[in-house]
Amino acid sequence: MSLNVLIVGAGICGPALAMLLQKSNPKHNITIVERSPSLRSTGQQIDLKTQAPHILRKMGLLDEIKSNCVNETGLEMVDSKGKQIALFGASASGQRRPGLTSEHEIMRGDLVQVLYDASIKQDAELRHESGNGKGVTYVFGETITALDETTEGVDATFFGGQKKRYDLVVAADGQGSRTRRLAFGQEVSDAAFKSLGVHAAYYSIPRIEGEGSLARGHLAPGRRMILTRTSDRPVTGVLLFTMKESSRLQASYQKSLEDQKESFAEMFKDADWQTDRLLAGLKTSDDFYAHEIGQIKMKQLSAGRVVLLGDAGYCPGPFTGLGTNLCLVGAYVLAGELARRGSDVAGALKSYEEKMRPFINDCQRFSSTTLGFLFPSSQLGIWSMNRILWAVSKISDIFPRSQQDDHWKDLPEYPELNLAS
Ligand SMILES: Cc1cc2nc3c(=O)[nH]c(=O)nc-3n(C[C@H](O)[C@H](O)[C@H](O)COP(=O)(O)OP(=O)(O)OC[C@H]3O[C@@H](n4cnc5c(N)ncnc54)[C@H](O)[C@@H]3O)c2cc1C
Ligand SMILES: *[C@@H]1O[C@H](CO)[C@@H](O)[C@H](O)[C@H]1NC(C)=O
Ligand SMILES: *[C@@H]1O[C@H](CO)[C@@H](O)[C@H](O)[C@H]1NC(C)=O
Repeated sequence: MSLNVLIVGAGICGPALAMLLQKSNPKHNITIVERSPSLRSTGQQIDLKTQAPHILRKMGLLDEIKSNCVNETGLEMVDSKGKQIALFGASASGQRRPGLTSEHEIMRGDLVQVLYDASIKQDAELRHESGNGKGVTYVFGETITALDETTEGVDATFFGGQKKRYDLVVAADGQGSRTRRLAFGQEVSDAAFKSLGVHAAYYSIPRIEGEGSLARGHLAPGRRMILTRTSDRPVTGVLLFTMKESSRLQASYQKSLEDQKESFAEMFKDADWQTDRLLAGLKTSDDFYAHEIGQIKMKQLSAGRVVLLGDAGYCPGPFTGLGTNLCLVGAYVLAGELARRGSDVAGALKSYEEKMRPFINDCQRFSSTTLGFLFPSSQLGIWSMNRILWAVSKISDIFPRSQQDDHWKDLPEYPELNLAS
């Protein structure tokens, strides 16, 4: 039984799902539409931990991923003059200690590119088994504008007006998913976004002499936090976070990138440390990405034959470091259930939802109270916070937390996916 599948979004989980589906049944007809005219391979460093490395290994991609990983040696907290306050994660013996850096860290763009290239390569290998006009096809600069459920399938209307019928439509279009809105309605879709009250901007700037491979963090009054992460790369990633309310910033998401850049520059203009350098770089950066941080909490992951995957269905937010992990688990479980249940798409979607719940709950567990503490508003609050960070960095020196690496045991097994054991 082969399926006609439409995947909306070629980020991380879209290409991963396409690959898994095709491998389980080369006769599937899989189309991926991506709104952007080319692959959006921007973004900063992301963590691959818990189940993600295991899934990538089963897909035969872990070695490739490892050779693309960045090598960050720790996190240094600095004061307004750049003096070290606390050091996490780096040890004299070169051993990794707990901190911001996890076992596998990769630039988002490199992960997107590895998955995309691998799916193209696999398609070239399997296409002869698929039959005419099938396999995995990417369409860039395309999106859908309507979805209509019929008894035989779901009709998707494309931007240009054409309509096509599918057995399954997968919303893999990220936190602000429009596909989710089309399938569940604006009200349900909007209500699923639970803000954590933090605004974030990510972009790259040129590296400077002597920057080394440590990440650096700086707390500034007015509930602002700056991180730089450069690892062993030729550029430095900048992350700006703020919990200060700003109607200008809030409104800028509906406006141009220029407007978003200006709003963040205004918000961070007197944050000391390297602010001048970081804001000069912001102006000229070409990979700027900003959003309001939140979690997506949906009561249901599917409506008829439309199913939510990754950030579109259960974004945990970047502070958990688990978003990529969760979206890969989602792609794996969805492909596994579809492979197991053949033509019973409804049964597969139900089972996908049941199997995903514990993973979603696990990854979304997060205390917004702790988050509040991390963003002091006054100089005194920052002074206290820096003392606490110093103490914690010393304690973790004495008691290194063991890296738990048996999370893969929680994953269901799907021999139907024809993956490495
Ligand atoms: C440009 C970009 C930069 C990012 N940078 C970071 C970062 O620095 N740190 C971090 O932790 N997380 C970042 N993220 C989020 C991170 O990729 C996700 O949290 C996570 O990896 C889950 O991936 P996903 O595939 O579900 O969604 P995403 O990675 O968000 O991918 C969604 C894809 O769908 C496409 N899309 C969106 N709407 C439509 C539409 N209507 N029609 C067709 N296609 C559509 C998008 O262009 C994108 O390619 C970034 C996301 C993007 C898109
Ligand atoms: C990080 O180190 C590994 C192993 O030494 C190497 O394979 C990899 O290329 C390095 N990453 C970068 C970005 O240089
Ligand atoms: C595969 O899907 C594409 C896109 O929906 C469609 O144009 C094509 O006709 C399909 N091919 C077959 C053989 O069904």
